[in-house]
Amino acid sequence: MAIILDGKIIADAIQREVKIAAEQLRLTTGLVPGLAFILVGENPASQSYVKSKGVACLDAGFYSVTERLPGTADEAEVLALIDRFNKDEKIHGILVQLPLPAHINEQRVIEAIDPGKDVDGFHPVNIGKLMIGIDTLFPCTPAGIIEILKRYAIDPSGKHVVVVGRSNIVGKPIANMLVQKKEWCNAIVTIAHTGTKDLASFTRQADILIAAIGKARAITADMVKPGAVVIDVGINRIPDASTKSGSRIVGDVDFDAVKEIASAITPVPGGVGKTTIAMLLVNTLRAAVKTSPQA
Ligand code: GUN
Repeated sequence: MAIILDGKIIADAIQREVKIAAEQLRLTTGLVPGLAFILVGENPASQSYVKSKGVACLDAGFYSVTERLPGTADEAEVLALIDRFNKDEKIHGILVQLPLPAHINEQRVIEAIDPGKDVDGFHPVNIGKLMIGIDTLFPCTPAGIIEILKRYAIDPSGKHVVVVGRSNIVGKPIANMLVQKKEWCNAIVTIAHTGTKDLASFTRQADILIAAIGKARAITADMVKPGAVVIDVGINRIPDASTKSGSRIVGDVDFDAVKEIASAITPVPGGVGKTTIAMLLVNTLRAAVKTSPQA
């Protein structure tokens, strides 16, 4: 039976640390970290994520604003908002919740954000720095995964990490972070994806398996090496008549079966998702500190 890697405990600890650091920053420099959210359209999951992130900002003592645009808004309106926040000294982080409506070019929007305010770590400048091992604003979900490993003393150095999924938000950045010659990285990394034939033959080689697929319970027990560490990034809604809402959230891993053979596993909910929000606060604090003349 696996150890459950509790994302909530870790996120709470990080959020307490950030709150104290933000208070010290305010006392010594007068700076209050400020985060601007841009939400386009009515996607219920996006609305819920932005709400949770906004609550976390308030709890940490940050300043935050949310600009909501209708799903019919055009790209120029989004770019104009970004331009305004880029110039706003009270705003240190800008987060455009993805996905954007199909008529808006996501990449142009990401590239319009000042890289110093790119608290999602999606701007090509930040991704480029990540790739060559320069400290920068790192994408929140991968950064949260590394915090989970660190705080449970699971050292990926010399281990074989298999990442399933090659998204720009999770798969590619976590693979490139873990391969760096740095503490809590230095792993041997394989990226599997939709082009991978016989996925199980790869996942079974993983000492640390990271599932960022976006498909409910795609990783089954037979795909996991006994004793492996399993990190589940999935957030999938499935029908469940026994719940009030008629649905519930499950990960990319068949948790009940895999927990019997893994040595450690993140639950969904209560795993990686919680640390993603905590790392957004860390990034916003870091972005604010960088603007301080005393920094
Ligand atoms: N959509 C899904 N995950 C994310 C994220 O980490 N940041 C943003 N901006 N949008 C997302």
